[in-house]
Amino acid sequence: MPSMATGDRRNFNPNSNGTNKHPQFGPKLLNGDQKSDSFARRQKIEQQRRSLPIASVEKRLVEEVRKNDILIIVGETGSGKTTQLPQYLFNGGFCRDGGTIGITQPRRVAAVTVAKRVAEECGVELGQKVGYSIRFEDMTSASTRIKYMTDGLLLREALLDPYLSRYSVIVVDEAHERTVQTDVLLGLLKDVQKKRSQKTLSESNNNGTLVKEENNGEGEGSSVSVVKPQLVRKLNPLKLIIMSASLDARGFSEYFGGAKAVHVQGRQFPVDILYTTQPETDCLDAALVTIFQIHLEEGPGDILVFLSGQEEIESIEGLVRENLKKLPEANQKVLILPLFSSLPSEKQMKVFAAAPVGFRKVILATNIAETSVTIPGIKYVIDPGLVKVRSYSPDSGIESLIVVKTSKAQALQRSGRAGREGAGKCFRLYPESRFEGLDDSTIPEIKRCNLSNVILQLSALGVDDILGFDFMEKPDRMAVIRSLELLYLLGALTDEKKLSDPIGHQMARLPLEPNDSKALILASQFDCLEEMLIVVAMLSVESIFYAPRDKLEESRTVIKSFSSPEGDHITLLNVYRASLEFLEKNKMENSKEKAEKNLRKWCKDNFINSRSLKHARDIYIQIRENVERMGLKISSCGDDMVPLRRCLAAAYFLNAALKQPDGTYRVLANGQIAEIHPTSVLRRAKSECIIFYNLVQTTRNYVRNVTRIDYLWLAELAPQCYALKD
Ligand code: CDP
Ligand code: MG
Repeated sequence: MPSMATGDRRNFNPNSNGTNKHPQFGPKLLNGDQKSDSFARRQKIEQQRRSLPIASVEKRLVEEVRKNDILIIVGETGSGKTTQLPQYLFNGGFCRDGGTIGITQPRRVAAVTVAKRVAEECGVELGQKVGYSIRFEDMTSASTRIKYMTDGLLLREALLDPYLSRYSVIVVDEAHERTVQTDVLLGLLKDVQKKRSQKTLSESNNNGTLVKEENNGEGEGSSVSVVKPQLVRKLNPLKLIIMSASLDARGFSEYFGGAKAVHVQGRQFPVDILYTTQPETDCLDAALVTIFQIHLEEGPGDILVFLSGQEEIESIEGLVRENLKKLPEANQKVLILPLFSSLPSEKQMKVFAAAPVGFRKVILATNIAETSVTIPGIKYVIDPGLVKVRSYSPDSGIESLIVVKTSKAQALQRSGRAGREGAGKCFRLYPESRFEGLDDSTIPEIKRCNLSNVILQLSALGVDDILGFDFMEKPDRMAVIRSLELLYLLGALTDEKKLSDPIGHQMARLPLEPNDSKALILASQFDCLEEMLIVVAMLSVESIFYAPRDKLEESRTVIKSFSSPEGDHITLLNVYRASLEFLEKNKMENSKEKAEKNLRKWCKDNFINSRSLKHARDIYIQIRENVERMGLKISSCGDDMVPLRRCLAAAYFLNAALKQPDGTYRVLANGQIAEIHPTSVLRRAKSECIIFYNLVQTTRNYVRNVTRIDYLWLAELAPQCYALKD
């Protein structure tokens, strides 16, 4: 339990006696040959592994897994669960039958960074014995035995392989997060385990062996994680391990019929908690001030700041850089490292490396750093107390992203990050009185999200009655009904609530949200699939444009050159096409690397986020492969954007809104009032009727990614939802 103390953020009393153990940055290896470098690194890693709290219970854990088909492992963040347990099981012989150990993570970043770390610990190349597989990216091979993946990806694999026969052990990690995919997976795995025991039994009676078929590689698993051909092997019962950082294992244990729970003792140094005296109105500004206050007034140690998304992170990143320049040179030794999901993985890994001597790392992270990944060296945590979550209102049938207060459990997890290696400090950017009013724990996502994707996935797995499905916590009845309705309106379900043919089956196969899948399927009929693929890929990444605060005017002018009077979707399309044209021209004269480098420069000059654009390009390639394999016709509408806009109206008809006399918009489906987001090209245009991609709630309701449509199209293209009154 962290020690609690209050204080004033702006002139707090450090209250420490100077005996705090500061993290030591090892001297950077300068000369010396590569071999001895890597030898030294391996030795250091070995020593780190041995000193993790989980190391002392290795034998016991392996024994417990041998004895129990379901085991719950609870242990504080950083105790070594995610990186070590799979290695213990591998060494304990759980892959001897040719099976793989699969470990699911709610977040892509965790799957990638942990797999890299474990590959390094094992001294193997990533993608061989140790690999990862996430949507749009597969780093595994036939020899992979320890496979990290997102929980959503394993669900997709279950579509192709209902017995999950390639796995001997499945570890559901971070179960306390209770994401909707984790909850679905828990129910599914319970069932798979039962089916597999029965199958094993009947096979051992028949003396038969299961021959694994090579699948035709469709669906998300698909290009990413096609179930690869395997040796013929006998199917053994499935071992299931649920891992959680929350100390209360009762819920999981009860759900799994009284399964055994093992607690791994953590190690936690005291953490001073400091609160602000006043509520903060501008959280970004408060975080900025606190970063500099720590940097200038506190001893060595890295700083971890929790922010709600990529946009906030990038805007603080810019501000910190600007302000650093104003400091004396001796104070400029700061390494600013962002950490969020769509960051390229080389960049994600940077947060784990020690800073050079004399430097301080400032890590700007989303919620991912709360429990999913443990970053060494953190001594100071800045917690604005906010988190971005999905929110669904069954009344409107519309899902939005909202920033809400964290729960008490989350606040404690966050402050705990400061006390991993020595005593630390956590700066909560809110008054102490607010802490008392927080919810104890976070509401499971299944209670607050649109369920249409889940229903689609379960239907594809043969589960038609979602309310009868064995969930740990049942979703709300109304939310289920509205989500079913949406799928019905999209044409994915029949009157009997079965997947329709072909639309429902096609939608279930695409690794996208139902609306996006429908947009692609329709686009092949509207002859604009080429364009829609780009639009959907661009919408899958956060913030394509990047407007630094000090260059707002300049960036607006440049961004305008891409903007389309029809709206943001076509603007995104213009950006993508322009970047492609630039790249193609460059490739003719330069090497591939040089061309990519030039593209990054081009992005910078045009205020485009090159990280996001690169990510969108990767996604485009993947979903294009998906639709090709499904046999959809890929054609282009050229410069005529009407088919694309009509297609958007036909797919996102629930997200249609009409202009009000006061300039705001009324969402037709539920009467909700919203404004067009300031970043939209239609912000000032005030079109009569629009469709939008996201609804974001901050202090106001904003619709983002907006396109102008004709009101009459709704009745024509979505008659199931709209009718003309006269
Ligand atoms: O899963 P759990 O929170 O129990 O711990 P873990 O993720 O297995 O982390 C164990 C240790 O590995 C921590 O001390 C991390 O700092 C370290 N680690 C690392 O140095 N680099 C990574 N990429 C991942 C983990
Ligand atoms: Mg972990």
